[in-house]
Amino acid sequence: MLDNLGNLRRTKTCGELRVEHTGQKVVLMGWVARRRDFGPLTFFDLRDRDGVTQVVFNEETAAEAHAKAKEVRGEFVIAVRGEVVAREEGARNPKLETGEVEVQASEVWILNDARTPPFQLEVAAPEALAAEELRLKYRYLDLRRPQLQAHLRLRHRVVAEIRRYMDEQGFWEIETPVLIKSTPEGARDYVVPSRLHHGKFYALPQSPQLFKQLCMIAGLDRYYQIARCFRDEDLRADRQPEFTQLDVEFSFATEEQVYTLVEGLKLGDEVTSSLLKALGAETVARVAEDAGATRGDAVLVVAGKSKVVAASLGALRNEIARREKLIPDNSFAPLWVTEFPMFEFDEEHGRYYAMHHPFTSPLDEDLPLLERAVEGGETDLLGKLRAKAYDPVINGVELASGSIRIHRRDVQRLIFKALGMSEEEARSRFGFFLDALEYGTPPHGGIAPGIDRLVMVLAGTDNIRDVIAFPKTASAADLMIESPGDVDPRLLEELHIQIKE
Ligand code: AMO
Repeated sequence: MLDNLGNLRRTKTCGELRVEHTGQKVVLMGWVARRRDFGPLTFFDLRDRDGVTQVVFNEETAAEAHAKAKEVRGEFVIAVRGEVVAREEGARNPKLETGEVEVQASEVWILNDARTPPFQLEVAAPEALAAEELRLKYRYLDLRRPQLQAHLRLRHRVVAEIRRYMDEQGFWEIETPVLIKSTPEGARDYVVPSRLHHGKFYALPQSPQLFKQLCMIAGLDRYYQIARCFRDEDLRADRQPEFTQLDVEFSFATEEQVYTLVEGLKLGDEVTSSLLKALGAETVARVAEDAGATRGDAVLVVAGKSKVVAASLGALRNEIARREKLIPDNSFAPLWVTEFPMFEFDEEHGRYYAMHHPFTSPLDEDLPLLERAVEGGETDLLGKLRAKAYDPVINGVELASGSIRIHRRDVQRLIFKALGMSEEEARSRFGFFLDALEYGTPPHGGIAPGIDRLVMVLAGTDNIRDVIAFPKTASAADLMIESPGDVDPRLLEELHIQIKE
């Protein structure tokens, strides 16, 4: 028999309890991660988003609860009322943040039962995890693992800090549409058939590129968006068919201003818990004493999961080595790649493509080359053109791309022409944008860091799926909801779509 939640309220989470809570009566709710029976004693590890707390059922002091606890199995959802007690010296668990205490249960409510999960959630080492395909099919179970939850918490902190910073810098968060017309970013579009416009399709944005430029033309001055982008391209470990960008654009921008903006985004402080808060003043003082530090000395402490600690200590060591000139400059450092070639030549199609995208501005001093190439027929000069484009790269991972844009109609026309686009084609694809350029477009530029990649680097993982709640596989499938899937034939009929075998 299952119990109702009724008026029962959770008073603490499973990650909160410490020795100072000893003696308190608490109500915890969560999932049973592990149970162990020792005669009159039954132990549960109770898990929620915040952590794990050991709960003890003692037959001698709480017979009814102890009997009920016998019915409970792994992943059951339960509520427990009990008292926080300090554990005996040898019974403490240093691996758990709550490991110095346990809850002596007096009552238990079984809020829901659970089938045995198709794979083990609690494993000693990552190598023991079930195959990723199986875990993706049951993603909601895999997401119960503390490591994945830690990644999502980190991602949340990163996005929260981005929003705070962008607001402080005077940027407005503006949503742009998702059902749009193709914006070229070099990949195939995902398309959505229109029911009302027979035979026509929307494209999902590869990025909000043109909309953010239109925001500048509209005088919105400083725009940003946590934007979902969609690209039908071959996937790699750091690519997903839908991903998230911090999409940024501002008016009267120079390259230097974009660099300053991006470099000012200090995620480190905000995403890690401050040391004082985490350890308390007393412990901090003790650490300083142990290290023999006196006023004015710096003590560097790294705390967290061992993989993150190792990666952070590695980065710290490299940074100190760099500052002290122990290693050659630039061997471990974020850097900006700038002045990309404007175009690259594609041998297969025998034509030039925009290396970033066709709205990127050439360097001012290279404009005469563009004119000679397009109007004077010296096509080879296109390969010499440099762009006001820039990418921040950390250890070889491209985190973002951006550029100063073309704000002049005549230059945009030359670029389209250089790309082999006829006036008619340019009008039919980008007529609205070319028109907009004629109504007083301010010089502007921007950038779009990939949030998934940023969180990947911060979390120290090389698998993008680890930092996305519901990711897709390398073949762009969602194994849990089984998408892409078939659609109702009546819907296809309404859309006037016929599937050819
Ligand atoms: P770009 O196409 O270089 O530029 O993309 C910018 C950043 O987005 C991330 N990214 C991806 N992340 C995960 N999966 C993908 N498939 C994927 N593709 C890109 C990367 C990349 O650096 N509109 C321009 C930006 C601008 O000019 O302002 C653009 O989208 O981190």
